[in-house]
Order: sequence, then structure tokens, then C-alpha cells
Amino acid sequence: MEIPKQGLSKDEVFRRLEAFRADDMPWRDGRTWAYVYDPGREAEEIIKRAFSMYLTENALDPTVFPSMMRLENELVAMAARHLRGNEHVVGNFTSGGTESILLAVKTARDRARDLRPEIREPELLLPSTAHAAFHKACHYLDVRPVSVPVDPKTFKADPEAMRAAITKNTILMVGSAVSYAHGVVDPIRELGEIALENDLLLHVDGCMGGFLLPYFRRLGASVPDFEFHVPGVTSISMDFHKYAFAAKGASVILHRSKELRKYQIYACSNWTGYTVINPTVQSTKSGGPLAAAWAALSFIGDDGYLEIARTVLEMTRAIADGVRRIPGLRLLGEPEMNLVAFTSDEVSVFHVIDEMKQRGWYIQPQLGYGNSKENIHLSINPASVRWVEPMLADLRECVEKARSMPSGDLASKLGPALEGLDPATVGDEQLRAMLAMAGAGGASLPSRMAEVNEVMNALPVKLREKLLVAYLNDLYRQPDE
Ligand SMILES: Cc1ncc(COP(=O)(O)O)c(C=O)c1O
Repeated sequence: MEIPKQGLSKDEVFRRLEAFRADDMPWRDGRTWAYVYDPGREAEEIIKRAFSMYLTENALDPTVFPSMMRLENELVAMAARHLRGNEHVVGNFTSGGTESILLAVKTARDRARDLRPEIREPELLLPSTAHAAFHKACHYLDVRPVSVPVDPKTFKADPEAMRAAITKNTILMVGSAVSYAHGVVDPIRELGEIALENDLLLHVDGCMGGFLLPYFRRLGASVPDFEFHVPGVTSISMDFHKYAFAAKGASVILHRSKELRKYQIYACSNWTGYTVINPTVQSTKSGGPLAAAWAALSFIGDDGYLEIARTVLEMTRAIADGVRRIPGLRLLGEPEMNLVAFTSDEVSVFHVIDEMKQRGWYIQPQLGYGNSKENIHLSINPASVRWVEPMLADLRECVEKARSMPSGDLASKLGPALEGLDPATVGDEQLRAMLAMAGAGGASLPSRMAEVNEVMNALPVKLREKLLVAYLNDLYRQPDE
């Protein structure tokens, strides 16, 4: 494929862009229970207008575009106040949860390099439910992740197990509010005490929950404390592009003080060009996401968010009750936010997901890991409010249908072949053969994913990761003419 010799007409550009999304899940009608945070048409319009208004402004140099710093400082201030920070709390706007987390880990690593230079192999202590972004941060920053099993019933971090895993190399502890997989809040107060006793930093991952949880608390839900008023909490990440409904590319990393934040900032004068001084990973940074996040918070407002929280809280309770009433399903943990995970000991959840997809629903699979069995995950959005009962009715039928579907055949055939296989020595050819056996080779996505998911679920984690890399490496390729 080449750059078109002559530019396309305006109409043609948009015709093609529209055509590209023909196979996307239709998120607008609220039948997609993941990935999309839809505040409704009116707010969407305002957010889009704000985004395009600031699309070209560049936050790289706030001396040229003071509006960028103004927007960022106001967003950080609103976030700090929302999370009960005092006037010393500082922070920066980032492109998403992963970047905020990466910066929290960089801050801890560079602080340890400065204040505890005897540590040669820094460790990050995290519950097994902490988001994958922490592992990614460790991978990028050469920090060792130490994953601690969570309570098998509540799926919350186990403070005593966390305490026991501290070593002389630990530089940072993590807790989630909420964890993505099960939608529960870790015992941040206890973790804070442990952090203080051991002179460690504690990061709270509020990417998913930080924004709405305070509203749920105001509505009477019991939400454990996780904000800056908890002693020992040193940084919090919170995404605007999730349940603050901003455009994607919007999160914030907050630190208890400037003294900590200084380790996040990067400066470089070691080249021939302009002075680089970046608080975050991005250097050139569009003003679009900043302005859109500011517009979302300003337009929806505190009252608007409280109403959204009321809607999704009621929906979550109805869905959790509905799932409890479906024979063959059981909840994993008790959701403390509008995220619900459930599994089955009687049918394959992966077949249930495929069946639901055939009926126009997207619900998300989560593979088994540690003491968390493979399951189905729902993110509950206000745009889905009219679908609660129809979705539950279809879910009940799909569970019944899945009872007659064979499951685990391929996984059990593959099992013995994989036994004793050292993931480190598996080559590209072997990986391709495994993918083909699972029906996942080539450039297109299989329409039914149950077998692929079952195989993935049966594999040891390291092999899963290798397969996923091989799979993706194959998937992104030049389109056929
Ligand atoms: C708890 C939690 N942390 C971090 C992230 C990563 O955020 P992002 O996808 O914006 O990078 C997510 C994403 O769902 C999350 O749920």
C-alpha cells in the first residue's frame, strides 16, 4: 500500500474512515461491556469540540502555550481535592493509566537510587490483582516485580502476606482502588501502616476507581478509605478517560509532595537541540486530551457525576443480584464499584462469551491466574442502563446453551505436549504451530474465541506470554491490496 498519489476528496476520506469501523462492536448502543466510557451524546459533543479546539497546541513548551499549563494545573488541583489531598499534593497529566503507573514506579526507582544507593536490584511489591501496567513498568525500568497472592475469597490484598514479602530491596508497595479484575478496594489503611513502619513508598492505583469511588461513598456505599488522608499513601494514579468520561489519553499521577515528584521529572541538555524538560513520558503532547478532560469535568460537574454514580451503582447491584440468580454462575468477590466478575464451575465461560457475542453483546474474558479462576468481566456504564434485564436474560440462556458445548478438548490434547516445555527455549516455528492448532494463526481473528481462550487458559503464564507476543507480531501486518 502506498500514500495515495493524489489526495482523496474530503467525502472519500470520511467514507473510508466510516467503512473501517464496520466490524467494530457497536459501542454507542450500550451493548459493549468493556473498553468504552460513554457519557451520552451531549457531553460527548462538548468533549469532542474541546478536543479539536486544542488539537494542535503543544504542551511540550508551556512558555509558548501557557494554556497548556493552566489546564494541567487546574485538572491536577481538581483531582487532588477530589482525592483528599492537601495543598502540598502535586501531579501531572498523562496519557493514561499505564503512563501514570510507569511514572510512579520511575519515581520510586530514582528516589531509591538517590537515597538508598546500596539497593542494586530494586523490588516492587504488588498484590497479584494489581494491574499488568505495574509489570510492564518493571519490565521497562528494570525493577523486579514481587507478586503476592491475594485473599482467595475477597480478592483483596493480604496485608500480612505483603508485610512478609518485604525485603531490603523493596522500594515501593502497591494497592488498588479498585482492582480491574474483581472491582474491589485493597485494604489501603493497613498497607499504609506497613509502608510507614518499613519506610516504603505506597502507590494507590486509582486508575479505575479513583474518580467514582468517592461518589459511591457519598451515596452511602461502604467504600474503604484509599485517598491521601490515609497515612502512608505517597502517590495515586487516577484516569480521567475511564469513569470521568474524558476522551482517551487522559490520566493523572499525583504525589504527596514536590520532594517525591522531583524524581519523576526528566531533563536533558545533552544534545544539540532545544532543552528537554519533561514531567511525563510524552514530550510533544497534544492539548486535545487535556482540554477534553477539562471540558468533561467542567461540563458534567460534581452533581452530574453523582447522578452517573447513582445510576451505575443501581445497575451494578441489579447485575450482581441477577448473576447470583443464574444457575451455574458465581461472583468472584463482592464488587465495590461498577465492575463485576463471575465464573462458572459447570460450563465454559469462554463458550458463554462467544454465545453472547452472537447475540450482539461484548463481554470480556479474563484468564485464570493464581487463585482467580477464568471468568467473565463486565464494566457497567450508564449508557447500558436499558440493557440490564435483556443482558441478564440472554446470559441465562447462553449459560444453558453452553452446557451442551464440548470444552477443554483441545486444551487437554495440547496439555501433555506442552508438559515440561521450557518457555524460554520455544522457538518461533513451534509457537506458530501452537497458534495454528488453537485456530488463531494468520492475519484474521477467529469468530469464535472459546478454543483459543481455553488453550491460553491452560498454558503456564510464561508460555501464554510468548504465544501472545507471537500472535500479535503476526496480526499487525501490511494489509493485502
Ligand atoms: C486498575 C487499573 N489500573 C491501570 C489501568 C491501565 O490503564 P490504561 O489502559 O489507561 O493504560 C487499568 C485499565 O483498565 C486499570 O483498570
